[in-house]
Amino acid sequence: MAVERTLSIIKPDATRRNITGAITAQLEEAGLRVVAQKRLRIDRAQAEQFYAVHRDRAFFDDLCDFMTSGPIVVQVLEGDNAISRNRDVMGATNPANAKEGTIRKEFGESVEANSVHGSDAPETAAAEIAFFFSGTDIVG
Ligand code: CMP
Repeated sequence: MAVERTLSIIKPDATRRNITGAITAQLEEAGLRVVAQKRLRIDRAQAEQFYAVHRDRAFFDDLCDFMTSGPIVVQVLEGDNAISRNRDVMGATNPANAKEGTIRKEFGESVEANSVHGSDAPETAAAEIAFFFSGTDIVG
């Protein structure tokens, strides 16, 4: 198994409900290690840049509104197969379709307010980590 790093975002619906610790506990229980973390707010330009791949989707404006509506917690997670492991513990994008025991099943409110984001591939993980962190921020 390959040790990987992936970017996790705990979204505004979760910071608003003060459940960042409960979510992080599930990540850690799944074998992921938080090797960098910060809480911040992103502005509109940052949200549009981060989600640029979705800019032609009907939900893009609402997604950017939502992601700028409150603080987020961004994390670099490290572990064996961290990218797919994180996606497994997050569950399906739409909480209504997420399996029992996943973060989005337990905490997600809607397809938009789905509590967490995780990188979907090694290339996006590298780009998304670099979007928020420099190398010296990450302590393995
Ligand atoms: P995320 O993993 O952060 O990547 C893009 C986000 O767009 C996704 O999670 C959802 O929260 C959000 N989104 C809002 N509406 C939709 C939709 N109809 N289909 C997919 N993603 C959506």
